Amino acid sequence: MIVALANQKGGVGKSTVAVHLAVWLAEKGRKVALVDSDVQGSSSVWLKEAAPSVPLFRLQTPDDVLEQLPKLRSEFDHVVVDGPAGLSEVTRAVLFVTDLTLLPCGPSVLDLRAASDAIRVLKQVQSIRKGPPRAVLVPNKVQVAYRLSQEMLEAAQTLGIPAASPLKLRQAYADAAGQGSVVWRMKTKSALDAAGEIQNLFQELLKDEA
Ligand SMILES: Nc1ncnc2c1ncn2[C@@H]1O[C@H](COP(=O)(O)OP(=O)(O)O)[C@@H](O)[C@H]1O
Ligand SMILES: [Mg+2]
Repeated sequence: MIVALANQKGGVGKSTVAVHLAVWLAEKGRKVALVDSDVQGSSSVWLKEAAPSVPLFRLQTPDDVLEQLPKLRSEFDHVVVDGPAGLSEVTRAVLFVTDLTLLPCGPSVLDLRAASDAIRVLKQVQSIRKGPPRAVLVPNKVQVAYRLSQEMLEAAQTLGIPAASPLKLRQAYADAAGQGSVVWRMKTKSALDAAGEIQNLFQELLKDEA
C-alpha cells in the first residue's frame, strides 16, 4: 500500500513522520520504500543515515508520480511518500494514487485552517476516486501539558477527517533529525516517551495492514 504525508504547510512534521514510519516498517521486516517528493530532499538525507538499506526514490513531477508510484506499489509492501511543501500538482498526483493520506497538522484550529488547501484537494480527489484515499489528521507538536482542544476535534469532525492520537512537542523528534536517527533508538526520557507515542500511532493507523 501507499501511505502519503500531505500538507502544503512546511514544518508540520511530514518528513518526521515519513522517516519514522519507513524505518518502523523496515524494522518489522516489511518490504518498504521511501519516496521523497519534496525538492529539499530532507527525508532522503535522513533516511540514508537512519536506514541505509531502505530503497529511496525521488519523484518530483506529476508525471513521475503517476507513472512510477503504481509500479512501486506492486513491488513493495509499503511505499511511504513524503509530500512536498506548497500545494503543487505533485501533491495532487500523489493523492490520486495513494491508499492512505496522513495530514500532519499543528495542534490548533488555526493550524487546521492552514491545511485547508490540502484538505480541499483531498476532497476533490476523494470525490473523483469515489472514496479513496483514506485520510487521517495527525495533530503534531501538541504541548505536553495540554490536551487537544475540543474545538480542534470538532473542526476535524466537521471536515470529515478523523484525527489520530496526537504527537506531542518533544525535543527528541528534533534531535532525531539532527542525528539521522529515530526516537526509539535514542536514550533520553523525551525519546522514550516519543517512541511509545509514535509507535502506538503507527499501530493504530496501520492495524489492518502492518
Ligand atoms: N512533535 C515534534 N516535537 C518537536 N519537534 C518536532 C516535532 N515534529 C517535528 N518537529 C521538528 O519540526 C521541524 C519540521 O518538521 P518536518 O518533519 O521537517 O516538517 P515538514 O516535513 O512538514 O516540513 C523539524 O525541525 C522537526 O525536527
Ligand atoms: Mg519535509
